[in-house]
Amino acid sequence: MKFSLNVDHVAVLRNARMESQPDPVTYALMAEQFGVDGIVVHLREDRRHITERDVRLLRELITTKLDLEMAAVDEIVEIACDVQPELITLVPEKREELTTEGGLNVLDNLEHLRDTIKTLHAAEIPVSLFVEPDINHIDASADIEADFIEIHTGVYANAASDDEMYDELEAIRLAARHAKKIGLGVNAGHGLNYTNIKDFLTITDIDEVSIGQAVIARSIFVGVEQAVKEMMNLIPSK
Ligand code: PXP
Repeated sequence: MKFSLNVDHVAVLRNARMESQPDPVTYALMAEQFGVDGIVVHLREDRRHITERDVRLLRELITTKLDLEMAAVDEIVEIACDVQPELITLVPEKREELTTEGGLNVLDNLEHLRDTIKTLHAAEIPVSLFVEPDINHIDASADIEADFIEIHTGVYANAASDDEMYDELEAIRLAARHAKKIGLGVNAGHGLNYTNIKDFLTITDIDEVSIGQAVIARSIFVGVEQAVKEMMNLIPSK
């Protein structure tokens, strides 16, 4: 399984005082040195953490791959086509949310998502859709020619009981298997940490996990190198 690091939370800290530090670009370059497989950032419409400057600098400087998370809106699509990340992950976006709260409703937004995927494919950028572990949304993602799905793991990560956690893990396992069977690449993320990743790794149909907050938070105490390497050591590389 591959491990991409989401550096949004470095930008959250930087932007809390509107200073230039800590710089998410520097953090991403360090994480690459320590062996992560890719860097993920979410360019929000309100630019509340990651800015266009961050995305463009990352594009210039990183040597692994850039996964740009974004809403399916014209302004950001235009920037994405210009920046040419290795992957775009389309996510739902609400101004009032603290973080992405769940997967896309692919079925209710079929035509708009289909058009957005077409535009991004015309720019030769593969597209992933962030979805719940729900077969209907996964089938719809394949129908509108998404290349990947990213399965939302937030319900698993935030489960209130072991029963809920294991039920959700099984839902993710079945969803990942189904997605693979119909030809989609399968990523996953949201709320994964050093503890809950262990059971998660029993799912074999996931190509890549995208993890941010847990690693960024731990690096405050133990440094970037140790925080990144501890997570890498938990995730067997494919
Ligand atoms: N995947 C998606 C689509 C996300 O929105 C986020 C959060 O920005 C992540 C993965 C990473 O989540 P976390 O920071 O909780 O590890």
